Amino acid sequence: MIKDLLRFIEIDNDTVQRGGEIWQLLEPRADTIVHAFYVRMRNFKIGSEMTDPVIGRLKIKQKQHWASLFGSKFDDEYANSVRRVGIQHRDINLDPMWYVAGYMTLKIAFAEALANTALPPIVNRRPILTPYRRPMLTPLSDGFWR
Ligand code: HEM
Repeated sequence: MIKDLLRFIEIDNDTVQRGGEIWQLLEPRADTIVHAFYVRMRNFKIGSEMTDPVIGRLKIKQKQHWASLFGSKFDDEYANSVRRVGIQHRDINLDPMWYVAGYMTLKIAFAEALANTALPPIVNRRPILTPYRRPMLTPLSDGFWR
């Protein structure tokens, strides 16, 4: 199933390798992006029991999630980690609508950060942006908890 998905969204070995390069550009901005995400979630009162200790824990896991996404080889480790994310959200009864909307918020923030980095001239951007499709599409595979 995941192999079909990867082929469908045209993720090949080169794309996977370049994911690491993207993460090097994004990593310095990730703490700010993740912090803003949880501030927003609190403002909108999404999720119950989102206490300081829970959010503190989640900020670390959230950042690890994006690091592993860009560094992913779509192996068993990746599958297990997205399964865990799905199970935890199911257990807290999170409406998938909020998961997908939350994911979109994060993706946009990362895309904006990428656009604001010192990228090579526009003609060279495609190889950098192609791997970005991966996190763009992952809610399809990890947003619907199975
Ligand atoms: C938008 C509404 C969301 C709410 C209310 C929410 C809430 C939570 C809660 C309460 C947990 C369990 C925390 C714990 O007790 O350790 C959790 C786990 C987690 N969430 Fe979310 N979440 C949301 C969206 C997202 C999104 C969009 C992502 C994107 C990747 C995400 C990534 C994670 C990760 C990585 C974990 C930890 C899984 C693990 O332990 O391996 N969450 N979330």
